[in-house]
Amino acid sequence: MSQHKDIKRTNIQTLQAMKVKGEKIAMLTTYDYTMATILDQAGVDILLVGDSAANVMAGYESTLPITLEHMIYHAQCVVRGAKQAFILVDLPFGTYQGNPRDALSAAIRVMKESGAQGIKVEGGAEIIDSVKAILSAGIPVMGHLGLTPQSINQLGGYGLQGKSEAEANKLLEDATLLQEAGCFSVLLEKIPAALGKKISESLHIPTISIGAGKYCDGQVLVVQDMMGMNKGFKPKFLREYANLFEVMTGAVQQYISDVKDNSYPASHEQY
Ligand code: KIV
Repeated sequence: MSQHKDIKRTNIQTLQAMKVKGEKIAMLTTYDYTMATILDQAGVDILLVGDSAANVMAGYESTLPITLEHMIYHAQCVVRGAKQAFILVDLPFGTYQGNPRDALSAAIRVMKESGAQGIKVEGGAEIIDSVKAILSAGIPVMGHLGLTPQSINQLGGYGLQGKSEAEANKLLEDATLLQEAGCFSVLLEKIPAALGKKISESLHIPTISIGAGKYCDGQVLVVQDMMGMNKGFKPKFLREYANLFEVMTGAVQQYISDVKDNSYPASHEQY
């Protein structure tokens, strides 16, 4: 008889129950072992290995260049550090659009090679066959609508989405389609709070907001942004919970000064 470990990790049932109870879901991005350990031990519900790794880890201007291999590497690092959070991984640009078979094999690679618990993909009706293919393998999928950074060249910028009635209706239709296909959650990025409220109230699955207002069932931020490490990046929705840019700069300057004036290492810091 096979033995199963007593799994305490957050799962899609836990997240659904949180929506039913009205308990908000706290999600953050992370891409490496050390940060994943800290965020997990602090009690974050979902850790997203976002393709924003392309920006904050690799320094690219958009999320388009990141590869499946890069995402699997970051996911492996996070999985080694996080024991309780639900770990979700973005499928990168070009691995799921247009071809459900490719989508399924990319998602299976992520799940097999990283040990994460789910996949996130950007888009609605236009990728629904890929979403269904991934779901058919028993892989939990979170949809991502509104500002979808992988479509930046079509959107023409990182502005507010869903402003017109037609856009808002399309977003509600896409969210409903993703729910009907079997997605466990939908992330809504940079849309008016009233639209975030309408979509959240009409779906029975949890919605996660980044710039979609307080009525969504949960919130997500890029960890470097909420820690104040990304100097000069201050969108309206961002709340900075620390100013690590200043703290880290100060620490490094102190270290440089201590090395230069030979006050580091002191006698108790050497063998
Ligand atoms: O990759 C990412 O960081 C995202 C954000 C919207 C949270 O998808």
